[in-house]
Amino acid sequence: MSEIRKIGVVGAGAMGTGIALVAAQSGYDVLLRDIEQGRLDSSLRNMDQILQRSVAKGRLTDEDRRATLARVETTTDLDGFAGVDFVIEAIFEDPEAKRAIFRELDRICRPEVILASNTSSISITDLGAATSRPSRVCGMHFFNPVPVMKLVEVIRGYSTSSETVATARAVAEAMGKTVVEVKKDSPGFIVNRILMPLLIEAVRVVEEGIASPEDVDKAVKLGLNHPMGPLELIDFTGIDVCHNVMQYFWQEFNQPQYAPPQLLRTLVRAGRLGRKTGKGFYDYEGK
Ligand code: 3HC
Repeated sequence: MSEIRKIGVVGAGAMGTGIALVAAQSGYDVLLRDIEQGRLDSSLRNMDQILQRSVAKGRLTDEDRRATLARVETTTDLDGFAGVDFVIEAIFEDPEAKRAIFRELDRICRPEVILASNTSSISITDLGAATSRPSRVCGMHFFNPVPVMKLVEVIRGYSTSSETVATARAVAEAMGKTVVEVKKDSPGFIVNRILMPLLIEAVRVVEEGIASPEDVDKAVKLGLNHPMGPLELIDFTGIDVCHNVMQYFWQEFNQPQYAPPQLLRTLVRAGRLGRKTGKGFYDYEGK
């Protein structure tokens, strides 16, 4: 394995920001790319806020905060990816958009560079097939909020080599994460395969008038000891993101139990996408 010093992160949304921050905190140089400069600016501001909190809590010196931020370079194009040693893609969950990015990355990155995707459900085999290096394409699925959540699922696509899996594991561990290996590419891998039916049932309980969103969340928090209730978690993750994952499961498994509940579709149509838009199952405006 050649030494990995610089990690390219594609997409500066919540996941890309978290991944870039944790990589920089772990000593990697980071090149963070987004097509929108505004998103890169707000990503850097978010990283600084998180680091400032650690400084305020006495867990980090101000010098380390600055050094961490100095390791993150931002860009709106992909040309600089010719100089990165490892890539983690974290754009929005759309198979065609992801394939297009993988094709571009394959053209630009050195042939030995591993291209990992943070997809929550899309087939790694499919993304690998969009490149000329399917043995060096794998999944590296982080969880939101990335700085807090300890897990990374490393996913083996049909053609992914054992060396690629070992390198992705080493990078995730160097970022302080615990790795589980997903041996077979399958929709939702481990966590989302288990989580989505829970979220779907929670929405159906509300839809059928069995209980209010507040009581569903209270029940799961107090009855199962989950840190967040399922509807809070949908709002936190993004109603559109959860909807897309469910839609994908429905297509892939061809089983109606995965169909996104009507209430979820309605919220997406109403633009109530959760915390990021200020409204979802709950109202966050002014909070
Ligand atoms: N970024 C960085 N740090 C954060 C953070 C963020 N966005 N949100 C919270 N934190 C940190 C806080 O600074 C605090 O750190 P400290 O204890 O060291 O001071 C710590 O996390 C706890 O935060 P709070 O006290 O503010 O709040 P909570 O105790 O309520 O924890 C939570 C917040 C960690 C988000 C917790 O509610 C939780 O674990 N929720 C469940 C998250 C979850 O299930 N994520 C997985 C989603 S599924 C997914 O991502 C897969 C995708 O593919 C769909």
